[in-house]
Amino acid sequence: MKIQSVRGMQDVLPPQQAALRRIEDACRQALAAYGYQEIGIPCIESAPLFSRLVGETTDIVEKEMFTFADRGGDSLSLRPEGTAGCVRYALQHGLIHNQVQRFWYAGPMFRYERPQKGRYRQFQQLGVECFGIASPDIDAELLLLCRRLWQALGLPGLRLEINSLGSAGTRARYREALVQHLSPHRQELDEDSQRRLDSNPLRILDSKVEKTQALLADAPSLHDFLDDESRADFDALQAYLDDQGLAYTVNPRIVRGLDYYNGAVFEWSSPALGAQNALCGGGRYDGLVELLGGRPTPGVGFALGLDRLALLLDAGEAPAADIYLASQGAGARRRALALGEGLRDRLPGKRILAHCGEGKLKAQMKKADASGAALAVIIGEAELEAGTASVKCLRRPSPNTGEDGGAQTEVQQSGLADYCAAHLEGG
Ligand code: HAM
Repeated sequence: MKIQSVRGMQDVLPPQQAALRRIEDACRQALAAYGYQEIGIPCIESAPLFSRLVGETTDIVEKEMFTFADRGGDSLSLRPEGTAGCVRYALQHGLIHNQVQRFWYAGPMFRYERPQKGRYRQFQQLGVECFGIASPDIDAELLLLCRRLWQALGLPGLRLEINSLGSAGTRARYREALVQHLSPHRQELDEDSQRRLDSNPLRILDSKVEKTQALLADAPSLHDFLDDESRADFDALQAYLDDQGLAYTVNPRIVRGLDYYNGAVFEWSSPALGAQNALCGGGRYDGLVELLGGRPTPGVGFALGLDRLALLLDAGEAPAADIYLASQGAGARRRALALGEGLRDRLPGKRILAHCGEGKLKAQMKKADASGAALAVIIGEAELEAGTASVKCLRRPSPNTGEDGGAQTEVQQSGLADYCAAHLEGG
């Protein structure tokens, strides 16, 4: 039987992995600038954590979880998202009572969705959560953090949509009005929305089905049901964003696919991404800690879809090496192994790619070129005998010496590492 990867579990090829790494590095820098600390949470949690916190009637819990019994009979789930686990973590370690915490985490999440471009069953998220601050300046700060990140990644033109879901009372009143509006049209709704009309009516606002959207056109707006406090907070958030020149659209249809939100919610998307265009989503979840048995603690956060960000960034072919080490003949190969070690000692961080194995020098030089290396070091019989190495500059005029690409110099093996250091960018 031919064994292949499991549907929706994607293999990450080197250019995409490099893009993911670049994104994570940029995130690390931006997060440090706002005082966030990295935490580690497991990929597997007890299944009830998600059904209770994400919501029994959400798509995630109803149809997308990877849930299984372990050998001891406990019901476990691969995490479909990170916020529930983060709240569990913070409570279990006594980290959120009467204090402010700013955390972030990254890693794989799992949802049994229909795979397509940008939507996978295993995907990478970077999540950011802040506990202990109830005022909307922190909501604004999180959005500014996102903007800083897009700038660092060179991603202009992302769209920000914000909404307020108000308090639990707001949503209860609105739910009633929405059900009243849609019930007479039940048969005209798509199948999913018919089901949601009974279980989770607010999610109907998210429907992509045109006919359902048409029925929603004259539906009551959530904003008309906002309580005073939520309205004031939402106004303040908009004022902060305006102050900072951060453009956004208020979209009363943004309800998010997880049940734990209240107050401000938001989504960033890219028109360049097609159907799966949401890059980042989040909002406030002030009731979540209490739902898990803790004392009332405000919380707000977001998660980035790293795979989708990687799709957006032109990863390009990154050079695989800085120095390519070519050698011919058994004795030269032995010498090259030793010289390679010396180069790695002297030039930490530089990529020294040794040819290893047989091959004509001409073929080796072709590989050196293809590797993107700036320098090729050649040890043949002649160099071996003379205790030298030929160093060929493969690219552009050498940044440090102005030497032409193609120039070849013979240097003493004892001075090889210093010579290469002087000829590579960043020495
Ligand atoms: P979410 O909107 O479900 O929020 O996911 C956040 C991001 O993860 C999405 O915007 C998308 O980029 C990415 N994503 C989701 N599902 C997939 C998939 N199947 N394949 C590829 N990428 C995907 C949350 O998960 C919340 N925990 C965010 C949050 C944190 N809210 C407050 N704190």
